[in-house]
Amino acid sequence: MSKEKKSNKFKTTLFIVTMIGVIVLLSYLSSLLQDQPPIPRDIDHLDLIDPDECLRCHGDKGLLPLSDAHPINQKRCLNCHQYEELLP
Ligand code: HEC
Ligand code: HEC
Repeated sequence: MSKEKKSNKFKTTLFIVTMIGVIVLLSYLSSLLQDQPPIPRDIDHLDLIDPDECLRCHGDKGLLPLSDAHPINQKRCLNCHQYEELLP
């Protein structure tokens, strides 16, 4: 009898720990997606993939230069920024 109770407790604990793990993982993943603003789907951005093209407008002398807080010296813009519609 008491053996059965023990194993039930173990299962409950395992279940709770797993659920906490899942929640932490999901919130971490969604924070990855939320930090950087999505790339607007407008005429300026359609079909651009070459980072040098991004910097034509988002470089120092462009229309909308990157802020000081921006993790620059990274050329692969699309590693972090996604087009609006691809976001969940
Ligand atoms: C022709 C000029 C131009 C080019 C090229 C360009 N952008 Fe933009 N971008 C803009 C302008 C203007 C805005 C702000 C107005 C808007 O379109 O919403 C903007 C806005 C953005 C935003 C949203 C900023 C915010 O605060 O929400 C991101 C992210 C972005 N661009 C990334 C990129 C990436 C990545 C590339 C290269 C694939 C790129 N842009 C190429 C002009 C450009
Ligand atoms: C390492 C991930 C990462 C990479 C690579 C990256 N960005 Fe960003 N970007 C971010 C984050 C995070 C923010 C929001 C930070 C902030 O508040 O400035 C951001 C914000 C922006 C903004 C909004 C204005 C600003 O400066 O906050 C624009 C425009 C932008 N990025 C364009 C680009 C372009 C163009 C490239 C490629 C040259 C690029 N990003 C590469 C993470 C990245």
